[in-house]
Amino acid sequence: MSGLFITLEGGDGSGKSTQSALLASWLEEQGRTIVLSREPGGTELGVELREIILHRRGYIAPRAEALLYAADRAHNIATKIRPALERGDVVLQDRYLDSSVAYQGAGRVLDPTEVRNLSLWAAEDLLPDLTILLDLDETVGRSRLDQSRTQYDRLEAEKQDFHARVRASYLELADAEPERFLVLPAADSIESIASAIRARVATLL
Ligand code: TMP
Repeated sequence: MSGLFITLEGGDGSGKSTQSALLASWLEEQGRTIVLSREPGGTELGVELREIILHRRGYIAPRAEALLYAADRAHNIATKIRPALERGDVVLQDRYLDSSVAYQGAGRVLDPTEVRNLSLWAAEDLLPDLTILLDLDETVGRSRLDQSRTQYDRLEAEKQDFHARVRASYLELADAEPERFLVLPAADSIESIASAIRARVATLL
């Protein structure tokens, strides 16, 4: 059985973790072994990097931030994701290189192509088989977050225009690679999103 690398992308509050959990249990019913991961923070080293990236007090220069995400990614892909794919497992990962292009590229206004190339270098050119983009109006994402958070991390704390750029960048990325992306409106019901995801994933099994 060959491995499958599926990533979930979308703004903060778009429902990625809910959909990832639903997809994982459906895939298990199909007899597949699932490896769950996330960036930043999918490995032990990643957990430490996540703490620095998201919660360390004070300014982090945009290029330093991009490199920290890339360091997390390099270690996650080399030590966790590639071995899982070689075993034939299905990897479900919350966020990957598209997050860097959208947040550090469009959000922090670094060159998106340079940010993408940095990620590809970090991950030795590994691209997902499928990327599910849960597209959400940033004002709705914000109000969902307001209901579930008492404190924001470094990126969540950014202003609305930052999150509007992130959203627009995600949609551009999806347009540029329609065969890799499945774009779904995150405002739809949990069950209708889950069933659209299952339908697409079924074609890859
Ligand atoms: P999470 O809370 O969804 O795990 O995401 C952590 C935050 O990190 C989220 O606001 C998006 C941001 N992020 C980037 O800015 N660049 C990246 O490459 C990744 C993976 C996440």
